[in-house]
Amino acid sequence: MSIPFLDLKALHRDIEEELVEVFRDCLKSASFVGGTQVVEFEKEFAQFCETKYAIGVSSGTDALRFALMASGVGPGDEVITVPNTFIATAEAISQAGATPVFVDIDERTYNMDPNKLEDYLRKRFTPNASRLTPRPKGVVPVHLYGQPADMDSILEVARRYDLIVIEDACQAHGALYHSKKENRWKKTGSMGVAAGFSFYPGKNLGACGEGGAVTTNDEEVARKVAMLRDHGQTKKYYHEFEEYNGRLDTIQAGILRVKLKNLPDWNEARRQNAGYYTELLKGCPEVVSPFEPENTKAVYHLYAIRTEHRDKLMQHLSENGIGTGLHYPIPLHSQKAYHKLHQENGGYPVAERVAKEILSLPMAPHLSREQIKIVADAIKEFPWHGFREAEHTDGTVRGR
Ligand SMILES: Cc1ncc(COP(=O)(O)O)c(C=O)c1O
Repeated sequence: MSIPFLDLKALHRDIEEELVEVFRDCLKSASFVGGTQVVEFEKEFAQFCETKYAIGVSSGTDALRFALMASGVGPGDEVITVPNTFIATAEAISQAGATPVFVDIDERTYNMDPNKLEDYLRKRFTPNASRLTPRPKGVVPVHLYGQPADMDSILEVARRYDLIVIEDACQAHGALYHSKKENRWKKTGSMGVAAGFSFYPGKNLGACGEGGAVTTNDEEVARKVAMLRDHGQTKKYYHEFEEYNGRLDTIQAGILRVKLKNLPDWNEARRQNAGYYTELLKGCPEVVSPFEPENTKAVYHLYAIRTEHRDKLMQHLSENGIGTGLHYPIPLHSQKAYHKLHQENGGYPVAERVAKEILSLPMAPHLSREQIKIVADAIKEFPWHGFREAEHTDGTVRGR
């Protein structure tokens, strides 16, 4: 039995009729941009995220850019994020006119390490450095793989240094974080000034095309995002500034409404599947399973394990018909696109190590226990032992 890394056809099987109905309705009404579907989806998604506002936009990249711009980030500003994310996180910062800067991650959660954030800011705000531009203005923590970042700590550091926090929730629709400060569970996307979500097809909530949303509790930020996505207008042909066409299509909004109804069940199924993987992989000490702190409920957009023998394991799984993915093989500071930032290799040791060892296994709500067992068995059948011995004899094994 072959198990693809991602099987969207299987996900759509049960809701195909409802999705086709959305297409039919759009054709019948000949309404393709804006309209009731977008307005209703925005209400429903805001409710789901427990925020006052959600504004549909054309992608997660645009959502992050609009969220940054509407919150006051622009040229001359520096915005801090992590190097182990999809390039769009940093691109959105650059596209808003600011400069992206990276801080290293936590070894267990793979999310921003608040201590490293604080270290960086402390150095940055020494009396001599404070005259330098660009000036730190914001932080973009990424809830990577659907695992919430340590928001209490990040928000506290940001408060002390007067930085705005924009969450990259592109992989975390519906994840929960228990705020000690507020003594309650909070949804990802509801904790910063604003957040960007992606509805790229493979996401936990995916469109049948491109899409994204900004969530916020700030009325003014919501108003600005609505203008940024629509040529700087609030009323047709009355433009307050030049901007962009970054709207969410009517058809995509309709599709997202169908899928949103299923999202709580799908997220729960992902959590169950993650739990089963972790249970089965306990018998395999060479593999590090994802770590979920007690004050979080991750939604497992990805289930990423870690091993020193990543490349060979990936090949072994592929030979056994099992698809895997790398998220992400090269940290952003080492990408050609960011050589201009002059961030040296070696500057982010945790992110650099993790990039060499991380491997995403098949993960989806509809994945059966049988499929998960096949993947876990294939991992256990990998010749770990022979491998270790061979590496020891030629002295090339890497220590942690
Ligand atoms: C962490 C992260 N940020 C931003 C994005 C950008 O979203 P989109 O592809 O919808 O532009 C993605 C999507 O892949 C992502 O995973």
